Amino acid sequence: MNHSATFLVLGATGGTGKHFVSQVLADGHRVRALVRTPEKLARLVGDNKHLEVWRGSITDDTLDTDGLVTGVDYVVSMLGDVAAQRSAKINTAFAGGLSRPYQGQLSPLLWAIRYTLARGYAGQHEDNEAVMEYLATEADDIEWIVHRAGIGSDGESKGILQRSKTRFSVATFADCAAYNYRTVVDDSAVRTCELSCYGSG
Ligand SMILES: NC(=O)c1ccc[n+]([C@@H]2O[C@H](COP(=O)([O-])OP(=O)(O)OC[C@H]3O[C@@H](n4cnc5c(N)ncnc54)[C@H](OP(=O)(O)O)[C@@H]3O)[C@@H](O)[C@H]2O)c1
Repeated sequence: MNHSATFLVLGATGGTGKHFVSQVLADGHRVRALVRTPEKLARLVGDNKHLEVWRGSITDDTLDTDGLVTGVDYVVSMLGDVAAQRSAKINTAFAGGLSRPYQGQLSPLLWAIRYTLARGYAGQHEDNEAVMEYLATEADDIEWIVHRAGIGSDGESKGILQRSKTRFSVATFADCAAYNYRTVVDDSAVRTCELSCYGSG
């Protein structure tokens, strides 16, 4: 992609989102970010003439969603709200490695982890799965991509994440952001719900 594109970023103040915004701006692209707390975004990524900030919540029924997407080339959703997602569906096209793709499988080990060690996030996974089912069955009119990320922590890069149908790595937020940036402009990734891993997939 050599032209200057505009990315609408949802979840820009999050662990992954803040890196995504910084990486895209560093390449000279434009970002429109919907955030609940603009001051938080300014603290995390600084000022930039190519950064346009909209204050608001994705769950606000009065949000001007048509205006939000006008002039946008890519929409990247890295939203997450663990507490809210225990009971509501607000998610995103950015799922976890413990989320099952529509009509896909998770191994018995991953199911066990999801409902034991990771049970606090079970609502997010169920929410992610509802989104993947919607995309697979009803969203013929958009070119969507789901990243079933396995994120561990912030910190230094551990390498370059590759797309994978079967393996996932516990990655850093920065590496996940870089993966999302590469993949969202990759035509061959359209309509996939893949995992990501360091090394070859
Ligand atoms: N972290 C992991 O280990 C992991 C692993 C796999 C997949 N995922 C998935 O990856 C996604 C992002 O993860 P993350 O850890 O980077 O997220 P995060 O740090 O929890 O950040 C979530 C972002 O969503 C924003 N947000 C939440 N509710 C919102 C609302 N109603 N309106 C507008 N913005 C809202 C938050 O804004 P505020 O700053 O205002 O709160 C924040 O910017 C999630 O969908 C998660 O399920 C995460």
